[in-house]
Amino acid sequence: MSTPTDTRTGTAVAVDGLTVRFSSNRGEVTALHDVDLHVGLGEFVSIVGPSGCGKSTLLKVVAGLTDPSGGSVELGGASVRGPQRNIGYVFQRAALLEWRTVRKNILLQAEMRGMDKRAAAAECDRLIEMTGLGGFENALPHELSGGMQQRVSLCRALLHRPEVLLMDEPFGALDALTRERMNVELHRIWRETGTTVLLVTHSVAEAVYLANRVVVMSPRPGKIIELLDVDLPAHREYATTMETPEFITVANRVRELLGAVAQAD
Ligand SMILES: Nc1ncnc2c1ncn2[C@@H]1O[C@H](COP(=O)(O)OP(=O)(O)OP(=O)(O)O)[C@@H](O)[C@H]1O
Ligand SMILES: [Mg+2]
Repeated sequence: MSTPTDTRTGTAVAVDGLTVRFSSNRGEVTALHDVDLHVGLGEFVSIVGPSGCGKSTLLKVVAGLTDPSGGSVELGGASVRGPQRNIGYVFQRAALLEWRTVRKNILLQAEMRGMDKRAAAAECDRLIEMTGLGGFENALPHELSGGMQQRVSLCRALLHRPEVLLMDEPFGALDALTRERMNVELHRIWRETGTTVLLVTHSVAEAVYLANRVVVMSPRPGKIIELLDVDLPAHREYATTMETPEFITVANRVRELLGAVAQAD
């Protein structure tokens, strides 16, 4: 089956020789050391690694929220300098404004960017339908489940149709069943939109199920120790995918690498 993701070519994100150091009163920390990562347009890349290995830092550098100490980062062929506009960012917690309805939380993106109101409203409606939030447009965040809140956050991140979607442990706070459902939904949205995605996760199953490639990182200083291709069809049914030899092989290799990292830590 043809999807938007397999008809596009080119590089969405290019990270070369990236090093990030932080200095504080406790001294200097090298969060990332000599990291190279090229992500193709429409690709879905999962990033796994032990706590503190620099996963969030990597996303922040791509977003232009943290400056590199060395190396280069490009988004869509242009050097990243300062906060980037053509990205969407989903955080671990939904970070919704409690006093704004679902619709108004999503439209915050449009207000901040000065988007055309009508076009933004139409896109907002489309995303609400796509993520199954229909009927909850006027609900307040506290009236929603955790999974629904994360969907709102996802809609907000997608409203301006970003070329690249950065997700930092977006489903970490959800129960296992809701998380599975969100994985299936995110997979479908990715196939429908063709957005390039970088997903940080602590779940090996989530990482492999969703990705074209899995990046495994080592602890301080954070480095990429292995890049694994996930050779699974674009359309993936959740339960049956997990039983395929390809899924099991890749997931076991990721676990092996993470186990080796944990022992060496
Ligand atoms: N703004 C900062 N100032 C100082 N040190 C920082 C800063 N941000 C991150 N660090 C340090 O950089 C290292 C990497 O942090 P980062 O948040 O990227 O890790 P992570 O892989 O996302 O971890 P986790 O899985 O726990 O979220 C850590 O040692 C952290 O203490
Ligand atoms: Mg993090």
